[in-house]
Amino acid sequence: MLTVKDIDIQGKTVFVRVDVNVPLDANGTITDDTRIRAVLPTINYILDENAKVIIASHMGRPGGKVVPRLSLAPVARRFSRLLNKEVKLAPDCIGPEVKALAAAMQPGDVLLLENLRFHPGETANDEEFARELASLCDVYVNNAFAVAHRENASVVAITRFVPVCVAGFLLASELNYFARAMENPARPVVAIIGGAKVSSKLPAFKNMMKHVDKFVVGGAMANTFLKSVDYDVGKSLVEDSSILWEARNLMKKAQEAGIKFYIPVDAVVADRNDEAAATKIVPIREVPPDWMVMDIGPATALLYSEVLASAKTIIWNGPMGVFEIDAFSRGTMAMVNHVANSYALTIVGGGDTDVAIHRAGESHRITYISTGGGAFLSLMEGQILPAVAALDEAAKRLGQGD
Ligand code: 3PG
Repeated sequence: MLTVKDIDIQGKTVFVRVDVNVPLDANGTITDDTRIRAVLPTINYILDENAKVIIASHMGRPGGKVVPRLSLAPVARRFSRLLNKEVKLAPDCIGPEVKALAAAMQPGDVLLLENLRFHPGETANDEEFARELASLCDVYVNNAFAVAHRENASVVAITRFVPVCVAGFLLASELNYFARAMENPARPVVAIIGGAKVSSKLPAFKNMMKHVDKFVVGGAMANTFLKSVDYDVGKSLVEDSSILWEARNLMKKAQEAGIKFYIPVDAVVADRNDEAAATKIVPIREVPPDWMVMDIGPATALLYSEVLASAKTIIWNGPMGVFEIDAFSRGTMAMVNHVANSYALTIVGGGDTDVAIHRAGESHRITYISTGGGAFLSLMEGQILPAVAALDEAAKRLGQGD
């Protein structure tokens, strides 16, 4: 994959698609700027090459119309602070005013376009909209891994209208790390999969089956696996019978393929899903009928730590319990420690898992934390991301593709 380092951008106008869809509080203050910081190396590189930078992103899901609270204004201010230079916010992302602002730029200038999703053309992958965006620049750089699984105009259609299209450093390194874990990885490879539902991660399980040696399962989805092999999980949420069948089948397929499939052996249970609930730790055979599973228990955490101790590659997506509530956070936090302590290549993706790792202050001890949630899951599912396919097509047109 060509990156911005492989082309000449001196003095050019470079359009950089980033994903700075960051969380904002009720006052519009950014509560986590990881996604902004993650794109800075690419932007700084382009600035060092004496080019003009036009940054574009979406924020939230405004549905094709202007929603003032989803303006990129707070992001422009944060970019200004982090880049230590003025980052102007354009009033829109297309149109005559934006064109005039782009035309007036000097090398070293940075212009942030307003939320791309204020226009319906963005999510519709509309060619006219893409052509308008493309008309602003000489070179297109996609550095937006977290939205690479969407067929949106600023990541797909635009590549048909800009003569030179390449990846930024963040997109390239996200793909490289994931490929390192999947293609010819150091073994054993362990996938830790947690979260609410088996159904939302079925395609990922099925694809990962081709790559991993062991699965370690937690979160509410573990209840579905447990129930599928006749454990009583009390009042815990479990999925319907078709998913129970899928869950059982998945474990059977794993066994046939020689893949070890670990499910919890004990649990933290509560009489209700509430901070003030009564809680206790029980062996998995002893979940009381009126209680629900909220987290993996200490025996499970110990068992999983042994599985992880011998791992050479670990991929983790999804928490082990309702970690937002302190009483049910121990299992997820124990896994954060095991993963951080391991000698393996450790790759983590998915919003909730990242939050748990940041909260534990262990980010620096993980090999790679993906900035993508849905995009990371799409990679786990074995999908070719539309934005990546579009860049590959564009590279072929340049005569540089595979
Ligand atoms: C994300 O936060 O996962 C990305 O920004 C993609 O957002 P979307 O799910 O609204 O397309």
